[in-house]
Amino acid sequence: MSLYKLVRPIFFAMDPERAHDIALKGLNWLYKLGVLKLLPAPVFAPNELMGIRFPNSVGLAAGLDKNAEYLDALSCFGFGFIEVGTVTPRPQPGNPKPRMFRLPEVGGIINRFGFNNVGLEQFIRNIEASDYQGVLGINIGKNFDTPNERAIDDYLICLRRVYPYAHYITVNISSPNTANLRMLQERKALGDLLAALKKEQKKLHQQHGRYVPIAIKIAPDIDTRQLRQMADVMRKYKVDAIIATNTTISRYEVEGLANSEQAGGLSGAPLRVRSTFVVEVLAEYLQGEIPIIAVGGIFSAEDTCEKIDAGASMVQLYSGLIYRGPSLVREAAQAFT
Ligand SMILES: Cc1cc2nc3c(=O)[nH]c(=O)nc-3n(C[C@H](O)[C@H](O)[C@H](O)COP(=O)(O)O)c2cc1C
Repeated sequence: MSLYKLVRPIFFAMDPERAHDIALKGLNWLYKLGVLKLLPAPVFAPNELMGIRFPNSVGLAAGLDKNAEYLDALSCFGFGFIEVGTVTPRPQPGNPKPRMFRLPEVGGIINRFGFNNVGLEQFIRNIEASDYQGVLGINIGKNFDTPNERAIDDYLICLRRVYPYAHYITVNISSPNTANLRMLQERKALGDLLAALKKEQKKLHQQHGRYVPIAIKIAPDIDTRQLRQMADVMRKYKVDAIIATNTTISRYEVEGLANSEQAGGLSGAPLRVRSTFVVEVLAEYLQGEIPIIAVGGIFSAEDTCEKIDAGASMVQLYSGLIYRGPSLVREAAQAFT
């Protein structure tokens, strides 16, 4: 029996956000005491994507370490890469608590955090204070009180500030918990945003002498027609990767269960099929032109293979870590070997 199976009931007896905070703080202590160094070495199964060499193809998804506070401890779990954020230009508290709910019967989570984060400046200080040497993705967003007409400014502020620290930058336009954010996925808005970001990326490339790829993170609640439209726009602007997907606003898979009526984004096992479908549609349409990083409901090696078969080049994990524990990282990484 894994150690995680023993401690999980203790965490699951607590409020989910409190359990999350205590688990991460506990991990930091274990890291400082040197205990996490005793974990098995990461799976080494290198992969190259967006011009970056990854030690393996399994990453930590955005949202678990929103403020880049736990990079050192999390690096001990054997991820091939870690994505921190979503960070916004200014600090913001997010939505009132409670804002995270478990659906344990089906391995689901609903959250409506609403980009609670310490803001760009403290976020950068946290990265500077860490010893993490691995591949770092930085996920950027806009403040809740920035209107969509000025969203581009927020993304540009974030892009410029995080550029020197990131191996790749993820543009999050798919969280359901910031009003109207997902409207930025519509053809015209997406085109305007990408035009501005790619122009700035070119400048930053020259300025820093290093090209930092841009990935776009998309929602699962998009039909085939709109997915293809988005793919056309992303192809036009030479987006470096697509991260598919964020959480869903659908409740189809969890109808009638406790907490299923909570507002927010649903993740975990009930998201898996929907998310894989998005990967499949995009992969088939794009024929390898833009690589896809799959995220959504991965709880096992088989789930990982499902994403690979659908056309994903790499994967990320979040809810699976909560339900299955850190051993899932190795299991998923081995699915690529
Ligand atoms: C509590 C929680 C917070 C999240 N916060 C973010 C976030 O800040 N930015 C983001 O891009 N995705 C965020 N996500 C979405 C995850 O990165 C991931 O796309 C989604 O949960 C699907 O993967 P999973 O089924 O493995 O959890 C969050 C997910 C959860 C459960």
